[in-house]
Amino acid sequence: MNKIKYLKIIFCIALIIGVNLTSSGNAQEKQSNMRNTSAMRTMVKDVHSYSNPQAVKVRHVDLDWNVLFDKKILRGTATLTFDRTPNAKNAPLVLDTRDLTIEKVETSVVGKSYRTTTFNVGAADKILGAPLTIGLPANATRVRIHYSTSPNASGLQWLAPEQTAGKKTPFMFSQAQAIHARSFIPLQDSPGVRVTYSARVRTPKNLLAVMSAEGNSQTSQRNGDYKFNMSRAIPPYLIAIAVGDLQFHELGKRTGVYAEPSMIEKSAFELSDTEKMVEATEKLFGAYRWGRYDILVLPPSFPFGGMENPLLTFATPTILAGDKSLVSLIAHELAHSWSGNLVTNATWRDFWLNEGFTTYLERRIIEAVYGKPRREMEATLGRRSLEEELAGMEQRDQILHVDLNGRDPDEGFTGVPYEKGALFLRRLEEKVGREKFDKFVRGYFDKYAFQSITTKTFVDYLQKNLLAANPNLVSVTDVDEWIYKAGLPKNAPQPASDAFVKVEAQAKNYLSGKISVGAIETKSWTTQEWLHFLKTLPTDLSAKRMAELDGAFNLTKRGNSEIAFQWLLMSIRNDYAAANPRLEEFLTSIGRRKFVKPLFEELAKTSEGTKRANEIYARARPGYHPITVASVDTILKWKKS
Ligand code: BES
Ligand code: ZN
Repeated sequence: MNKIKYLKIIFCIALIIGVNLTSSGNAQEKQSNMRNTSAMRTMVKDVHSYSNPQAVKVRHVDLDWNVLFDKKILRGTATLTFDRTPNAKNAPLVLDTRDLTIEKVETSVVGKSYRTTTFNVGAADKILGAPLTIGLPANATRVRIHYSTSPNASGLQWLAPEQTAGKKTPFMFSQAQAIHARSFIPLQDSPGVRVTYSARVRTPKNLLAVMSAEGNSQTSQRNGDYKFNMSRAIPPYLIAIAVGDLQFHELGKRTGVYAEPSMIEKSAFELSDTEKMVEATEKLFGAYRWGRYDILVLPPSFPFGGMENPLLTFATPTILAGDKSLVSLIAHELAHSWSGNLVTNATWRDFWLNEGFTTYLERRIIEAVYGKPRREMEATLGRRSLEEELAGMEQRDQILHVDLNGRDPDEGFTGVPYEKGALFLRRLEEKVGREKFDKFVRGYFDKYAFQSITTKTFVDYLQKNLLAANPNLVSVTDVDEWIYKAGLPKNAPQPASDAFVKVEAQAKNYLSGKISVGAIETKSWTTQEWLHFLKTLPTDLSAKRMAELDGAFNLTKRGNSEIAFQWLLMSIRNDYAAANPRLEEFLTSIGRRKFVKPLFEELAKTSEGTKRANEIYARARPGYHPITVASVDTILKWKKS
């Protein structure tokens, strides 16, 4: 009894030290504490995590969850297995949490039973959440945390039956990137900390649970009790779950799609090139190392286009255009199986390593599967949108190695890491030639497979393995300009599309009055040509022109989400009232942030528009994901409720 009391006091002291260390936020102090061993020297500080992996490193996460739809919470345990650095034996375990209710924490030494231990939840920061500090007895190797999530967890969305395609059963899904895993699992939520994971998930009997792991069921059998295992070490932002009325459809020998039953046929048709894409990527960049590649098509409130959850890409239903014209999104998420999931950004300021490489790979896959003209169209659209974005962007955000200290890492989600990153890699390819460059990229994936690396590690590798052998082609100064300076270097590649040149010529002739709207030859236009046409038109268009274009091409009624979005943006800008009902329908049925955010921003530019925006948002907000809500709340100055 006395001994327990004594231990408790020791834990409390350790806790206080731990709390002081983390809440002081003194990076320098932490850094100097870290210089003690060589292993610590290689760790960079992740400013978006409270955790202390330099002292205690979590290796495996075992989850046991009850999915409680009536309460909109996950309730259960997370058991973390960790290693401890020899000279940090007294250090507590510090985890990231956000809005979690921690009921009890236990620790154990391998083979021994669990005992309750002390813990402390520190003050919550708006961006980072709250540190959970757990006192560890000398030989502890595991902690078991009993907890539940909040109905407002930033990384989960709970959908009522009406918000699904089937309208009969509820749905739940997670979205952990960048720092939302901590809102449903207490863990070291840093992309520099890789873990394997296992899970047991209990759901209502009629629903299926799927995860970014091995164990997803391909049959329609359901018992409400599912088990998963992720045997490869992944960063926490790739842990993902969805629960709903889901059906599986095979696409190829190792590929398939999950969707609600009423969406499965459409999804399977749209995604029928998936196996071909995996094969093409393997040929270019080496073996696919994860086993299966499946895609989950989510309800329309999914806030992103896609999310590269390993073994199971999560995708918005807005890519289901009916003609496979928007599947570069799948090429993108698939490419992350190499750039991002295999070789991962160590911190969020290295995000461009994930997204720049992935956008580059995406275009290479598109070229391999659909040909160079399609690649050049998409690359041109990418470069154009980057240029537009750069024009209105602060200098500090135009840098690939962006400084996100004190900021929400979601602020780094701009076109810069994607398109500027991809242009940089294309520039390298153009300079050294495709053969050498592809060999370099394959070598890079092999060398850093299943590791998390910083920009500096990449630059050193680049220097040694590409630049050193080709000093006259690319200089270190060039590379520095790309990575550490704002804006686009003068020598940035300029993608070129013959098809787009023709589209521009027609737009010009139409605008000058040389040809009538009916004489524009649109019959063979692809989605990309339509998008380019609309974007080529001047920002200000007369009411007559808007009506004329709509009359000729039925733009307000287009089902293709990208075309509809572009047209609706133009409709707001030019006060084209005939598109109002479609705008309302679009904003109240789709929650993809890439579409929703710019439309509300455009509306908010005028007082009349702001009024309409608020009316529409009042109806749409309950159906939006927390991530989309956060963005639109800021635009329309809504308080968090
Ligand atoms: N990993 C990203 C999505 C992401 C990034 C979520 C950062 C949260 C924080 C994903 O791979 C992605 O880039 N999706 C894009 C689509 C892509 C085709 C550009 C999207 O959702 O728009
Ligand atoms: Zn991506």
